[in-house]
Amino acid sequence: MKGLVCKVCGYIALDGNREQCPVCRAKNVFEDKEDAYKMTDFKAISGETEKKHIPSFAVVRKRGLIPGADYIDVRVKIGEILHPALPEHHIMEIAFYIDNKFVENIMLTSDINPTAVIRLKDGTKGKVQVIESCNVHGKWFNEVKVE
Ligand SMILES: [Fe+2]
Repeated sequence: MKGLVCKVCGYIALDGNREQCPVCRAKNVFEDKEDAYKMTDFKAISGETEKKHIPSFAVVRKRGLIPGADYIDVRVKIGEILHPALPEHHIMEIAFYIDNKFVENIMLTSDINPTAVIRLKDGTKGKVQVIESCNVHGKWFNEVKVE
């Protein structure tokens, strides 16, 4: 997929904002790239490489300990098949967006299974989008609708 990429840190601006990178804070460093990330029809994937890289989601609504403190956990797991967690091949980061706006970038070490959770306030609506970065196979996108 075509995308707007920070030349310093590799962040992808889904919102099209070219001014300042929200991850590394560099200014005016974005470039358009034809193959910024991979986006696959999750239901149609068949290859092992795809099965190891496409982010999948579980949206879980939780009761808070006090009234008004309910929340939504969006759990992300990278790959239907477990991705390698080795120094030479691992998932480096998971970037979260909501409706194309950057939310958080979670950095991973090479010795852990690639999963992450983002906690949203109850009532949050929109598309939660994730781009994960593999140090060998590049960036992979998927999204889930939270209603
Ligand atoms: Fe990989």
